[in-house]
Parts: sequence; structure tokens; C-alpha cells
Amino acid sequence: MIQIAILGFGTVGTGVAKVVAENARQIERKLGEPLQVKAILVRSFKDSPFRQLMTDDFQRIEEDGAIRVVVEAIGGVEAAYDYTKRALSAGKHVVTANKQLVAERGWELLALARRKNVNYLFEASVGGGIPILHPLTQCMAANRIDEVYGILNGTTNYILTRMVRTGAFFSDALREAQAKGYAEADPTADVEGLDAGRKICILADLAFGHQVDPDGVPIEGISRISLRDVKVAQRAGYRVKLLGRAVRMPGGGRTAYVAPHLIPEDNPLAGVEDVFNAVVLRGNATGEVMFYGRGAGELPTASACVADVMEALQASPRREEIGWSPDSAGFEDPLDLQTRYYFRIEGSLADAAMAFGQVEVLSEDGETAFLTDPITGRDAQRQSRSLNVLSCMRVLA
Ligand code: HSE
Repeated sequence: MIQIAILGFGTVGTGVAKVVAENARQIERKLGEPLQVKAILVRSFKDSPFRQLMTDDFQRIEEDGAIRVVVEAIGGVEAAYDYTKRALSAGKHVVTANKQLVAERGWELLALARRKNVNYLFEASVGGGIPILHPLTQCMAANRIDEVYGILNGTTNYILTRMVRTGAFFSDALREAQAKGYAEADPTADVEGLDAGRKICILADLAFGHQVDPDGVPIEGISRISLRDVKVAQRAGYRVKLLGRAVRMPGGGRTAYVAPHLIPEDNPLAGVEDVFNAVVLRGNATGEVMFYGRGAGELPTASACVADVMEALQASPRREEIGWSPDSAGFEDPLDLQTRYYFRIEGSLADAAMAFGQVEVLSEDGETAFLTDPITGRDAQRQSRSLNVLSCMRVLA
């Protein structure tokens, strides 16, 4: 019998307990022994079929030598960081979906895990149930990864989809995403792009081998997107999606950002709807490889966590390829990247042409919506200074 503990009993923690119980036979067959949740750390005791496993005493878990893996499902940094360090120091593997902790302190916790000869695994921190970190670090290991981009937040993708499909109001769509267990405890983290920012940092850390500090990554969420932009884009054959993107720069530097983009409707990312996420990896040998699936929600996220629990127990002795240097030097401004830009301005086509030269007009009805030729973000800012800009987004080539 292999025993584990779960820290926190929100969406992810509950999902882990359910998957371990419901898929007990499959898990036992693969591990060769039954897997059992021995303890669940909670702040306050709740009514639940798992009530008898609940404790509010972390020390009991820390000192219990029979508990070999701890699933940290608390979220945030403070308590989660402290408990993760203590669990690793006690020689237990730790598995998590906590993207904030991994993005901010992952390299340090991985170093501690290495010293203790245990695993710190976090497949569920990016893309929910989609296998992405393992393919990136294992299946694509023979590549130099030049770019990673995708739809990394289920809540915002759900909101955008509802706005397009049913004309739902932003606030109603957000409430639905919260009710379905997709949103963060503070949904501003989803809506303002913070959550996607943490995920693109983790992908960039693993893809490029250097720490990308979440604080240094420019992020823009979806709160400034209007239904008008969504409709203009749609009529012109584009969908609006929030993308995280990390790119290896020609001089060897790295950049990353999160921002809404116009995606041409024949691009597979344009068809990624609701809570689904999709991540594209561009390797120098493989070209582009895309991963698609449910990016949030109780069971998909728990699926990735429990698979990591199983892997932590089976990896012998540890997953060596997961890690990156704490050195964050070499991060460059994404404004140096070139792309086409979408603008909606209060003004005429003549105003647009004065600022940008030749443009592709998408709509003209008092306001003008248009696409520029490929330019850097810096030029987009400089050249639009004379215009009354209502909205501006990058276009995915
Ligand atoms: N709030 C996150 C999302 C949960 O909506 O994608 C999964 O990381």
C-alpha cells in the first residue's frame, strides 16, 4: 500500500481524492500496489465523503514516514511554499498544480528536491489535463525549442467563447466559469492575464533552460476587449484569443508575454473554445507540435496530478531533465518582436494611412478598424501616437 497526503481541499484537492478513489483499480495495476490517500490537510473541516481523512495539522503529515508523496493543492505562495519545502526536506515527493509557486520558486524547490533525491513534479500547473511539460522535456528533448505559444487560461477562453457564441455579458460568463470550478480563487488573476503569465513562464523556463521572472513578463488580459472588437474580428475572418507566447530571440536572449491576439480562423487555435487550452511547441527538428485538451476543472487537473504521483513513485531515482538555471539574465522586451497589429481608432482611413502607410481595412463606420503590415511593438506604439486608439491587438501570423 502506497500512502499519500493532499494539502488543500478545493477544486484540485477534491479532484485528486476522487481520481484516486474512482480509478483505484487502474492505478493499482500500473503501480503494482494500491494507492491510498492517508491524510488531507484543511483549514476548516467540511462535510465530505473524505471527512475522516481531514486534519489541520501539517506536522502530522510531515512526520508520517508512511506518506511518500504530498500533493500540494493549496495554491498561492506562502503556506504552499513552506509546506512544500518541509515535505521535500522530509524526503517526500511533492506534486502540484500550483503555477504561481512553480513560476516564482520552482527552480529553488527543484534544487531542494534534487538534494533530497526526491521529485518535485508539476505537470498540472500548465494546461490542466493536457500533457505538455512531459512532452516538452522528454519527447521533444532532441530539439532546440524556439517558441512556445498558446491558449493557456481556460476561464478567459470560456468567457470569450460565450461572448462570441451567445453574446453573453462578460460578468455573466465569468460567473459561469467560477461555478464550473475553472476560475482562480481571485478571478482577476485569470481575467488580467496573471495566470497565463505564470504558465508561460513555466513553459519558457523549461523550454529555454533559464528562469523567466513572472514580474518581468508584460501581461495584458481580456478586460479591455469589447464585444465590438470581437465582432469586427469575426466578420473579417479572425477570432480573438488570449495567448501566452515565449520566443527564443535571434541573439540568444528570450522573451515572453501574454496578450489578446487576432487569430485567423483557419489556424487551429481559432477553433479552441470553452475551457479548452492548446499549446504549440516549435522545435528546430519537429517544427510545430500542438497539444489540446481541457485546461482547467477538477478531474482534468487531478488526472495530471495523480499521473505525477505515480511517476514520482516510479521514476528511478528522479526525473533529471526537469529543471532550469536560476539565472534570468537575457530576458528581452517583447516589443522588439515583429507582427501585424490590429487597431480600432476613432478616426478615418486617411488617419490610419497617415500613421502607418498601407493598411488592410476591416471596418469603417465612424470608427476604423484595420491591420498594419508586420512591425515591431515599439513601432506600433510610436506610429499610433497621433491616433485616437480605441483598441490594439497583435495578430498571430
Ligand atoms: N484558472 C485556471 C484557468 C485554472 O482558468 O485556466 C487552471 O490552471
